[in-house]
Amino acid sequence: MVLASSLYISGLRINGELITAYPQVVVVRVPTPWVQSDSDITVLRHLEKMGCRLMNRPQAILNCVNKFWTFQELAGHGVPLPDTFSYGGHENFAKMIDEAEVLEFPMVVKNTRGHRGKAVFLARDKHHLADLSHLIRHEAPYLFQKYVKESHGRDVRVIVVGGRVVGTMLRCSTDGRMQSNCSLGGVGMMCSLSEQGKQLAIQVSNILGMDVCGIDLLMKDDGSFCVCEANANVGFIAFDKACNLDVAGIIADYAASLLPSGRLTRRMSLLSVVSTASETSEPELGPPASTAVDNMSASSSSVDSDPETTERELLTKLPGGLFNMNQLLANEIKLLVE
Ligand SMILES: Nc1ncnc2c1ncn2[C@@H]1O[C@H](COP(=O)(O)OP(=O)(O)O)[C@@H](O)[C@H]1O
Ligand SMILES: [Mg+2]
Repeated sequence: MVLASSLYISGLRINGELITAYPQVVVVRVPTPWVQSDSDITVLRHLEKMGCRLMNRPQAILNCVNKFWTFQELAGHGVPLPDTFSYGGHENFAKMIDEAEVLEFPMVVKNTRGHRGKAVFLARDKHHLADLSHLIRHEAPYLFQKYVKESHGRDVRVIVVGGRVVGTMLRCSTDGRMQSNCSLGGVGMMCSLSEQGKQLAIQVSNILGMDVCGIDLLMKDDGSFCVCEANANVGFIAFDKACNLDVAGIIADYAASLLPSGRLTRRMSLLSVVSTASETSEPELGPPASTAVDNMSASSSSVDSDPETTERELLTKLPGGLFNMNQLLANEIKLLVE
């Protein structure tokens, strides 16, 4: 693929052939931990300059590539965040050990480009941190963060598409560890979320400029939430299963709604009815964290109500062809994800 920029226009050649017809909407799936600004982001920027509507846009993806960059964007907007420090220059990890002491021990330490809970740990004390600093890899800087004790082993994953909450999932670790990531053995259950939690996830998505994202929220003692991280390349498999949703289909609908002709917007509104109904049928998540798990078991047992069945029934009444086209898009997105 060759990208060209001239005085008048940006162009694209694939295998020597000049491309003249570009997609109007592009659903971008780039695994954020490995995003390369000089290759991946360059191609995405080029498509954007040629008039493609990218979801997510390159700047929004960059906002999530590095966990500290995400917090830099969010700070100053009144968004509740655990206090967080980082540094420039890898040699500064050791110096941070003294600087970050105000966060108190135990303290959360994360690689700014980590993912799947693998480069996140709870440091017991200063000596523990000093010992670990010799063992960890320093390709990307680390951040030092206030430990949200009440949320140990639990967080809420909220998927936001087009500024709307499409579903919420409580994740719990099963082995006592702090990280609740499903990839580390955590389990996910459908849950509902307080208004503060929903508004927070939407606000974060808007500030970061996301079309599609997974926002992770930590729970506080008073039932409110603070932000843990934002994922631009959110995975759907565990989420679909826990929440009985078809997130790829919802993303496909949203992509279709961005087409200049505004095709398939009717299905979008049908979906919004379905997802609202499935949320409100659940007990609220938001009361003191100590009761949250009980609420969750109630939630997971009521996953039976099948929003997709209702949706499919409604869709058969739409003019022919629409659903199949949507399904194709959804399948393609699923292939990219899996
Ligand atoms: N400050 C914190 N206090 C308590 N738990 C946390 C904190 N930060 C992260 N966690 C837990 O660790 C998990 C992984 O952290 P996260 O920042 O999301 O990194 P990753 O990108 O690897 O998933 C979170 O889902 C949450 O369960
Ligand atoms: Mg995470």
